[in-house]
Amino acid sequence: MRLYTIATIIGIGTALLFAGCRAGGDFTGREYMPDMAHSVAYEYYTPSRAVMADGQMVNLFADGKSSREPVKGTIARGFMPYHFEDTPEGYEAAGAQLTNPYNKSHAAVLEKGKALYNTNCAICHGEKGDGKGTIVTNGKYPAPPPSYFEDRILNLSEGKMFHSVHYGKNLMGSYAGQMSKEERWMVVNYIKQMQADHLLKNDSMAVKSGASVEDVLAAITGTNKFYTKGMAFPKVSATTGAAAAVDEAPVVFVESELDKIVQENKELRAGEVIQLNNVFYATGKFDLRTESGIELDKLISLLQNKPELKIEIDGHTDNQGNAHDNLKLSTNRAKSVYEYLVNKGINKDRLAYKGFGSTKPAAPNDTEEGRAKNRRTEFRVL
Ligand code: HEC
Repeated sequence: MRLYTIATIIGIGTALLFAGCRAGGDFTGREYMPDMAHSVAYEYYTPSRAVMADGQMVNLFADGKSSREPVKGTIARGFMPYHFEDTPEGYEAAGAQLTNPYNKSHAAVLEKGKALYNTNCAICHGEKGDGKGTIVTNGKYPAPPPSYFEDRILNLSEGKMFHSVHYGKNLMGSYAGQMSKEERWMVVNYIKQMQADHLLKNDSMAVKSGASVEDVLAAITGTNKFYTKGMAFPKVSATTGAAAAVDEAPVVFVESELDKIVQENKELRAGEVIQLNNVFYATGKFDLRTESGIELDKLISLLQNKPELKIEIDGHTDNQGNAHDNLKLSTNRAKSVYEYLVNKGINKDRLAYKGFGSTKPAAPNDTEEGRAKNRRTEFRVL
């Protein structure tokens, strides 16, 4: 009797064990306590059906796809529009209008640019930039890229380089999906640095004149700066600030209110306050960083296009530190912007400046995010 019971238990146990197995394929068989190790993976946006517990097949969503489409008009976080078209005209326009926003010799910018270049570009263009990357020298790539030290590429403006990296060029693919706008600029910046280093070693005039990397960079970068063999490399004066902000961290550009005003042809009414989002100062000081020139030049063209417009530049700080010092710092920062505009030919009668310290916060000062919002430069329409 006991033997019979034991045999029955073993028999049922074995039957259950084998019932869990099914022959072949990716089937998990029957699981008595399923866990998440066998979850079903779906490719996003593909037609997908799910198996329900009762074995029925159903659509995951009404349209049969595996995930929802984003709401119409959604853009990716950090997306920046690029206004130049993928045409020969767009290429020329990018070359004439785009400028590298970075301080060219900034150590952190160069290091990041080099890392990005070695990861994405060196396989074809070579670590040295001579066009002899691994897949070129081993004969696997049919179209060797040009050396960056050919006259044509030495003369390629940073704007055109950026444009080609954004859209791709003939056999070279686009890098807009792999790298952010800032990263693409850092790679272009690094290529220009390689070119300057090359000229310093190989161009007789550069060697003879004792030019520095900054001198050569200033001569060959930016719009309409061209290299010709045997050209003299003028010394960069200390006031151009080529090396001024060497110890500063890279800046992060955000969307400019000024672009919106121009695009929407917005009317500006007296009393209206507009934020100048991309104006950067040296930490704790009132000196404008060179990167601020992009935003401020937009402000200048706005003032030129609206000759009746008069504005007051307003500086604000967060509430950290001494209130008196904050007032002084914000006033001096507003004054730096004022002086930039005056130096570039805007009539003093149309401009005023004022510092408010921490007296007019735009957000609560209790988080770093709030404090960052409060450290700002604006203008008020007079
Ligand atoms: C798969 C190989 C390959 C890779 C990877 C590659 N390139 Fe290129 N690149 C080329 C070729 C080929 C050309 C020549 C295109 C032409 O003019 O027909 C070129 C041209 C260029 C030019 C000159 C563009 C112009 O306007 O004439 C620049 C600048 C450049 N590449 C930068 C880069 C950067 C920066 C990267 C990395 C982010 C990169 N390339 C990655 C193959 C490559």
